[in-house]
Amino acid sequence: MTTALITGSTAGIGAAFARRLAADGHDLVLVARDIVRLREQATELHDRHGIEAEVLSADLADDKGIEAVAERLGDRKNPVDLLINNAGFGNKGRYLDVSMADELRMIKVHCEAVLRLTSAAAEAMRERGRGGVVNVASVAAFVPRGTYGASKAWVVQFTQGAAKDLAGSGVRLMALCPGFVRTEFHERAGMGTGSIPNWMWLDADKVAEAGLADLARGKSVSIPDPRYKALMGAAKLVPRGMLGGITSRTGRKYGPQ
Ligand SMILES: NC(=O)c1ccc[n+]([C@@H]2O[C@H](COP(=O)([O-])OP(=O)(O)OC[C@H]3O[C@@H](n4cnc5c(N)ncnc54)[C@H](OP(=O)(O)O)[C@@H]3O)[C@@H](O)[C@H]2O)c1
Repeated sequence: MTTALITGSTAGIGAAFARRLAADGHDLVLVARDIVRLREQATELHDRHGIEAEVLSADLADDKGIEAVAERLGDRKNPVDLLINNAGFGNKGRYLDVSMADELRMIKVHCEAVLRLTSAAAEAMRERGRGGVVNVASVAAFVPRGTYGASKAWVVQFTQGAAKDLAGSGVRLMALCPGFVRTEFHERAGMGTGSIPNWMWLDADKVAEAGLADLARGKSVSIPDPRYKALMGAAKLVPRGMLGGITSRTGRKYGPQ
């Protein structure tokens, strides 16, 4: 039996990872802030799949929260075999519309927490000679898109570099880069989604499944859908100035679109 720790497990892509991994028989450590929701999720996954599901309520925008999760990842007696760094959020509005406090909170959750948790997990995994880390980034990493895109670009670069450094150690690292996924993300940020065409939306369960398949294949970056693979290929041919004009508008406006 192996154990997976998922941050942001209670909704969206994290919840899809939890469902998939529980169905495959993995025990889970579920991490988010809302303890009531975490407990309900743990009970449901335990009852449905017969797996053990621990809960760990932690705010990854806070040092204490990051430390608590890092400590769990470093517990040599109860090893974690797979870490899914998934917790994240969007801020409504373009650069200078968003408060500095919110920008810094994003960098804390998307970058600092990912660095510290990946390191805590990878160190313990390297000692055992096996393990995996999936860092959930976004296709926004590949286009100009404010602090969100920049934070996800950091996740991709960091993960690819760490994967190279740990090659041969038995520890696999992969950045997962989905496009738009139907989750609570946009509603939580108060972003309208009316301008996003239907065909661009991905299903969270399919994203999690494709991500795990790509990790098993040994990829260090995964774009888990053929439509977005093609789009990202095409984006390389579009001048960056023009690309910035398109991507800075999509899904970031105030109010409904
Ligand atoms: N949806 C998309 O279109 C999309 C596309 C590409 C990439 N992504 C990325 O996918 C990841 C998951 O997003 P999602 O769409 O699944 O979002 P979601 O449905 O809003 O779920 C976010 C999850 O993260 C947790 N969370 C948020 N802030 C946290 C914090 N400070 N500390 C601990 N947990 C926190 C939430 O639980 P609590 O509120 O209880 O903490 C929840 O479980 C994010 O990294 C996002 O950037 C999303």
